[in-house]
Amino acid sequence: MSKTSAGEARGNLAEQGHLVDMEQFLAGEQGRAPAAGDELCRLLEAGKILYFRESPFALSGGDTDVLLRQRLSQAGWHKNIAYRPRQDRVTGFDAAHADAKRLHAALRNYSRQSLAYTAGLLPAYGACWRLDYASFRPLEEQGRQLRLHARNDLIHVDSFPKRPTHGDRILRIFMNINPAAERHWITGEPFDVLAAELGADFARLFLRSPRASLWKRAARIVGFNHRGSAYDDAMRGIHQLMKENSEFQANCRQHHSHFPPGSAWLVFTDAVPHAVVSGQYALEQTVIVPRSAMFSPEKSPAAVLERIAAARPAKAA
Ligand code: SIN
Ligand code: FE
Repeated sequence: MSKTSAGEARGNLAEQGHLVDMEQFLAGEQGRAPAAGDELCRLLEAGKILYFRESPFALSGGDTDVLLRQRLSQAGWHKNIAYRPRQDRVTGFDAAHADAKRLHAALRNYSRQSLAYTAGLLPAYGACWRLDYASFRPLEEQGRQLRLHARNDLIHVDSFPKRPTHGDRILRIFMNINPAAERHWITGEPFDVLAAELGADFARLFLRSPRASLWKRAARIVGFNHRGSAYDDAMRGIHQLMKENSEFQANCRQHHSHFPPGSAWLVFTDAVPHAVVSGQYALEQTVIVPRSAMFSPEKSPAAVLERIAAARPAKAA
């Protein structure tokens, strides 16, 4: 089971180790709404997972059924089925499929409900975040055959090479809609803690040389400009080098989370290394929170990388 330490939050049991039990947190916070929201932002920025035993944004039975039925027809699937809220469009699914309209409606409902709830819970973020995609993850994660850098069962931080964030933050809202099985995650120490603990080894293990990454070079060759940044290149490299490093995979400090059917959780996946060990049928909505909205900006991966860069002897690029 997970390693836990005594909660610091006013002596209650809501905050234990890597998870904040939101049922307990909210029960102790009646009437403190804005301050509670800011405190939750701080907890997220410290690498905690906000965990709801029962999702506060329930999906209707009809929407859940249409999503669970998708396993019967896997033709035309991509890695996940994605929903783009700004365009109200589904990708990764055959539009001619009989369920296409209902699937679209179910994903739109999840996207809208999870966003509305989270904007109310975390108003400081909700006022300025940018909407990213939502996704449905219909395949069993245990034993999935994916190329190394696409594997979800290896511990990694998230980075989107095609949608660079320039130092802004990746916050994801998950829900396990599987009626019977848990979703099992492993998470590691958050980015700033990992970097402080590893010291000079962090750069040796996880930072590639500052020359253009393979991705950037390939993009240049095919004439596609991904408008990335040194930050996005570094985060992509860290994502890959974590997955390639079997010693890190085996020996980094690990917390296990067993998310039961119907539960939901929020986490900054750019800072909290994570892997999904098993589970099928999860929904997820991503928002990009500006770095300037952070309550603890020094914990952001961009700030950590800037500190590392400032401490390193200058090298020719
Ligand atoms: C991931 O972001 O690595 C996958 C998480 C999940 O699907 O549970
Ligand atoms: Fe991930």
